[in-house]
Amino acid sequence: MELCIIGSGYVGLVTGACFAEVGHHVICVDNDQRKVDMLRAGKIPIYEPGLEELVHRNVSAKRLRFTTSTQEGVDGSQVIFIAVPTPPQPDGSVDMTYIEKVAREIAAALKPGAYRVVVDKSTVPVKTGDRVQATIQRYNKEAEFDVVSNPEFLREGCAVPDLMKPDRIVFGANSDRAADLMKRVYEPFKAPIFVTDIASAELIKHAANSFLSLKISYINALSAICEASGADVELVADGIGMDKRIGRHFLNAGLGYGGSCFPKDVKAFIAIAEELGVPFHLMKEVERINAAQLERFLRKMRDGLWVLKDKHIAVWGLAFKPDTDDVRNSVAIELINQLVKEGAHVTAYDPKGMEKAREWKLIPDSVKLADSPLEALNGAEALVLATEWKEFANVDLDEVKKKMHTALVFDGRNFFNPKTMKELGFIYYSVGRPPAR
Ligand code: UGA
Repeated sequence: MELCIIGSGYVGLVTGACFAEVGHHVICVDNDQRKVDMLRAGKIPIYEPGLEELVHRNVSAKRLRFTTSTQEGVDGSQVIFIAVPTPPQPDGSVDMTYIEKVAREIAAALKPGAYRVVVDKSTVPVKTGDRVQATIQRYNKEAEFDVVSNPEFLREGCAVPDLMKPDRIVFGANSDRAADLMKRVYEPFKAPIFVTDIASAELIKHAANSFLSLKISYINALSAICEASGADVELVADGIGMDKRIGRHFLNAGLGYGGSCFPKDVKAFIAIAEELGVPFHLMKEVERINAAQLERFLRKMRDGLWVLKDKHIAVWGLAFKPDTDDVRNSVAIELINQLVKEGAHVTAYDPKGMEKAREWKLIPDSVKLADSPLEALNGAEALVLATEWKEFANVDLDEVKKKMHTALVFDGRNFFNPKTMKELGFIYYSVGRPPAR
């Protein structure tokens, strides 16, 4: 099939590359000439395992190309996906200006007699489909089209496998014609396809991300109870997770959730519910617990180090989770900023996130960046593990101890084994787990 993706950001680029991989012809549109030039030159603006090879392979096979022209994208494609950003506004509600602008651009590009399906893939408030429909109609009375909502569930760091082998495909359509075309788009992925009305599909996305955030906040709230009672949150998570109705996924206690999705989507869902006249107090509590988790961790650090001012602290991890260079809304970054604010001298290391953290000025210039995990430790009075990169498991812990001034470890992701750490002579703090006996 001939497909167009408008917006070559995270979701747009990965989706376009995966559609091409299964045999569709894909044209990716982006209004950023620099980005399009970069992509045409074979350079990938984000780090995502497997993406670069996928893009190169499909560009060479002439199934994937890039343009800045919406007209060119719309002209030759049966289905047009909108994958532009929906950033948060200061009050938590979603900024819809990019979606609205693209809807008008599509309206201007649609030609009479050429039926098109316009698919919203960006994460949007419920009822956006109606708005997109009305906007296109208003700006082009002759356009023949249907609007579909097709939320995306890929995770950064494993976006390619998530897209190639999805648990389910969800889309909401109001016409059989549109639904049939969408089924043809997704048929090669051989995944269960769940078709709903448009509003339900839109809600499924916010409901899924909110529920996963809720699971994380639930286990984090439990971690505080475990610390107060001497229980071990990992064992509690394993024990409840064995119940298939609960499941073990997303029950890892730690510094809390971050990234460009959960914090924004929880806020947006709260705002949407408020607007609909049904305040979602439960999700407000999820947010509160998430913020409290970092504060509790910092308290632990103040307890262990007594005073943070002038302490040399090494931080392993800047990305909001492993296998990505995405440092937006990363709890690791928030933690570093707090440590610096309290007068600590921070040296950080992250396998992929250092460049963007610096470039986007997310950390103060005074934070030193090391070339390796061990280098970050020279003379450190404490090590904080903030992102659970696999690379950290390969670092020789004896070497870690030798490099440090004092062998104090604050593990924000329950990465190390408390017993091993004790045997090696570390003073070791983690989240919701008792010290090794
Ligand atoms: C999330 C969802 O998992 C995807 O399904 C969704 O498509 C995506 O948002 C989106 O809306 O685009 P992502 O933000 O890439 O994906 O990352 P996750 O793996 O979900 O992790 C989010 C945060 O939760 C990270 O900060 C992670 O460290 C934290 N987390 C996750 C925990 O603290 N504990 C856990 O048990 C799991």
